[in-house]
Amino acid sequence: MDKFEWTPDLNLGIDVIDSQHRRIVDYINDLSVAISQESVDQVFDVMERLRDYTLDHFAFEEQLMEQAGYPLQKSHQLVHRRFEDKVANMVEELTNGRDPFGIARRARNSLMVWLIQHIRHEDQDYVAVVKKVVLKEQGWISGALKRIFGSADHPV
Ligand SMILES: [Fe+2]
Repeated sequence: MDKFEWTPDLNLGIDVIDSQHRRIVDYINDLSVAISQESVDQVFDVMERLRDYTLDHFAFEEQLMEQAGYPLQKSHQLVHRRFEDKVANMVEELTNGRDPFGIARRARNSLMVWLIQHIRHEDQDYVAVVKKVVLKEQGWISGALKRIFGSADHPV
């Protein structure tokens, strides 16, 4: 299974968000490794960590949009909620499914496609507005990182 290589065109130019997106890509690649090693335990473990991390990332992004007064925040949030449902279904399918690696492979492919599309469209759209907060309110950013991820240094 090919590695999902991060390409510079996926950068939004907001370091704190770009590093979170790269972390999600790392989880997607971890999932590929778990599949190629045929380890059901590892597949479950990665899927759960990926889900938890993505929830934190969405929370951070949404609070940032709110802080910046981004006008399309509500519809962006809905896109996140739909994606969360999708991931929850994947985890559930894995729990009940008879073909965990087939399910994991499909999950991995759709996660990859979704993430690229989301970054290029919905995320790209908030960049101009959100950048102002990132440049002016470093204290707020550190506080939000600490609240959501448990560390102001996270993610680096
Ligand atoms: Fe987003």
